[in-house]
Amino acid sequence: MTATTLTLNGRAVSADVEPRLSLADFIREHQGLTGTHTACEHGVCGACTIMLDGKPARSCITLAVAADGTEIRTTEGWDGDTVMAVVRAAFKSEHAVQCGYCTPGMLTTAYDIVTRLPGADRDRIRLELSGNLCRCTGYVGIVDAIEVALKEVHG
Ligand code: FES
Ligand code: FES
Repeated sequence: MTATTLTLNGRAVSADVEPRLSLADFIREHQGLTGTHTACEHGVCGACTIMLDGKPARSCITLAVAADGTEIRTTEGWDGDTVMAVVRAAFKSEHAVQCGYCTPGMLTTAYDIVTRLPGADRDRIRLELSGNLCRCTGYVGIVDAIEVALKEVHG
């Protein structure tokens, strides 16, 4: 067991964990935050994407011990964030959610696009989204939602 301390959605968390435990399993199983989804569990689909020190990261291929000292934000941790409120509303208005399985990861990546790339066009949005797979294949609504959010946040 290895001592791990990190900040999870603004809260200090300490635990003794197996060195092989993934950050996704730590978040879901140890912390009970099941909004972080897992699917491929080898870094391909993006379902498990969370924010690690302000950047999107695959929690299934990040070890919990490697996240020691970092700041993690999961889909449960965005209350009060005005940009995420806009992104969520755009996903709703543009029908970007179908079964919803990919949505927590998609929202995280969408937030990153909206905050990092104010001038992103549809091609760039699609490129940036290429690490997030939607099994319902509803990409048009997701790209529309990010376009709407970009416009709303940056004018
Ligand atoms: S579950 Fe992590 S990338 Fe697919
Ligand atoms: S909405 Fe179903 S996997 Fe994306």
